[in-house]
Amino acid sequence: MEVDIRLSAVEIYQNCLNGKTDYGFETIAEAQERAFVKRLVMTALRRQEFLKKVISGYSSKPLPPKMSNIHLLIILGAVEILYFRTPEYAIVSSYVEIAKKLGNKYSGGFVNAVLRKICSDCEKISNAANVPFFPKSFRRILSVDYSPKQIAVMEKLAVTEPPLDISVKSNAEQWAHTLDGTLMPNGSIRLPAAGIVSQLYGYNDGQWWVQDIASSLAVQSLGKISGKKVLDLCAAPGGKTAQLLSAGAKVSVLDISKPRLQRLKENMQRLNLHPENIICADAIDFLQKSEQTYDIILIDAPCSASGTLRRHPEIVHLKTQDDVQRCAEVQKQFLENAAPHIASGGILLYAVCSLSKAEGEQQILSFIERHPEFLIKPINLVTIAGKRASELKDLLTPEGFLRCLPSQLSLLGGMDGFFVATLQKE
Ligand SMILES: C[S@@+](CC[C@H](N)C(=O)[O-])C[C@H]1O[C@@H](n2cnc3c(N)ncnc32)[C@H](O)[C@@H]1O
Repeated sequence: MEVDIRLSAVEIYQNCLNGKTDYGFETIAEAQERAFVKRLVMTALRRQEFLKKVISGYSSKPLPPKMSNIHLLIILGAVEILYFRTPEYAIVSSYVEIAKKLGNKYSGGFVNAVLRKICSDCEKISNAANVPFFPKSFRRILSVDYSPKQIAVMEKLAVTEPPLDISVKSNAEQWAHTLDGTLMPNGSIRLPAAGIVSQLYGYNDGQWWVQDIASSLAVQSLGKISGKKVLDLCAAPGGKTAQLLSAGAKVSVLDISKPRLQRLKENMQRLNLHPENIICADAIDFLQKSEQTYDIILIDAPCSASGTLRRHPEIVHLKTQDDVQRCAEVQKQFLENAAPHIASGGILLYAVCSLSKAEGEQQILSFIERHPEFLIKPINLVTIAGKRASELKDLLTPEGFLRCLPSQLSLLGGMDGFFVATLQKE
């Protein structure tokens, strides 16, 4: 790999840690190079806490919380040495060259010294038993709801690159066979992580879309919805919209983000699926002005997104308990404003990819208290997985919600963290 590619990796890594929504992977034109940089940056984010400790051991001072480009560069180099096993001669000089460009006159020497020490201690470091992934701030979020033991299991399972799950329009068994994937209990198909998605068979023909199994359970829990009038309130990029449309519902799609809606439109075009209408608006504004009612409103609410930490490891470095509280307040507004627009007997489907109960279980239990006209409709696993329902039994809470954790379905390769509730209006 060339110096330029590694230079792009440093910039993208910095973008991730700055919380930019557009990381910049798309700026790398060549698909193989883009895939390499993505794997490099994602592995760095997963191993960052551990590698900070390793690097501190080789320098006179511990690394500052806000790391410089030079520190990020060393982490990327360490990832290549320790996890990609790139030979020393192929990389150290390349990282030293970048350090000279980005830093001061000492940077090249520093990067050279640390990376060469990592090379010579490679086996010892790779065999270290206790490899932390979560920084303290993220542990603090999880410890509100989970025991240290539960957190440790999540941390261990989330540190590896997750497999790729897809949802197919139909004939899941056939597609699992064609793509040589694993058929999951709910009909999702699990493929190994590596590879360029758009080059896989059936993608360009619009036969399937990428969607983690956890995320697909929400719409599946609705059962038969053909002909139902549905409002998909936070729809982009459209994973759940595609499920709703494939199941024959008449779907109005709304999202506040124009670029994300553009992606939704492209996805629907590829999949040859047709929403009734596509609205770019703030959901609260829209609901306050609208007089429509719907059989089903799906609120796949904006959230702290901690459940997506396997695919978005930057989340663990960025989120704080304040984010959880802020999101919970917004979600409450979504629920309050959606409630009057659900037809009598209709369903409010609420989903978040957060691990925090303040955004999930507690949010819904307090909504129910404020709204006695809504009752929890316990989720039926047979609706989702038929004969294989028992394989998902650990996901069901005593109240009838779904609570997915990254540590569940571990024998099959884990899943995203997710919460789903279905509420029925009297
Ligand atoms: C969790 S994502 C939705 C994922 C999508 N449902 C899917 O399955 O592909 C949340 C979405 O909410 C949108 N959003 C955030 N605030 C919003 C608001 N006030 N009104 C409408 N959409 C909003 C975001 O742009 C984002 O696309």
